[in-house]
Amino acid sequence: MRQVILSEKELHEICVRIGGELNTRLKKEGSLPVFVGVMKGGLNFMMDLIKQIDLPILTDYIQISSYSGTASTGIINLKKDLTLDVKDKTVVIVEDVIDTGYSMHYLKNYIVSKYHPKEVIIVALIDKTFLRKVEVKTDYCGTVMNENKFLMGYGLDYNELYRNVPYVYVPDKEEIAEYDHLLGK
Ligand code: IMP
Ligand code: MG
Repeated sequence: MRQVILSEKELHEICVRIGGELNTRLKKEGSLPVFVGVMKGGLNFMMDLIKQIDLPILTDYIQISSYSGTASTGIINLKKDLTLDVKDKTVVIVEDVIDTGYSMHYLKNYIVSKYHPKEVIIVALIDKTFLRKVEVKTDYCGTVMNENKFLMGYGLDYNELYRNVPYVYVPDKEEIAEYDHLLGK
């Protein structure tokens, strides 16, 4: 049986909560914040989260790759850079999962050293804190997971499959076998 980790209702509640907290914080800043969605996994969350922001914001996207199949590799590649110059701006990075931290560590350093933003705020839907290999702190987090489970849905994929499922779940062994079949493996 597939195990649902975050239902549609819970995902909505997370977006309302974090969106509200960000509204309060960003309102004080005065400058135009840039929300940066991390492709591709963070896109579903980014889209729902920004609907809760009642301030003028800019949006941009960045793409890296680090995951292959069901395991983090630690080797990060930048696949798509920002299109905006975020110098002196508040950057809000919106990511799906932080696991070892390699991806977010890389991203934050990359953005800071290349663009010199005013500050970087890290938002993650799911934080697998216990798997951390490099230090990365989330400023806003949907939920903390203390088990090492491979998650899918709501942007999270298995070799690009099923990012479209509207909730986050753990596939069972039979489902993974079915996905391999669908993918022609
Ligand atoms: P990290 O570099 O180990 O922190 O891995 C984070 C990246 O791996 C994120 O960008 C996620 O998209 C992806 N990731 C981490 N855990 C999962 C998972 O359970 N399912 C799918 N993707 C994941
Ligand atoms: Mg990701």
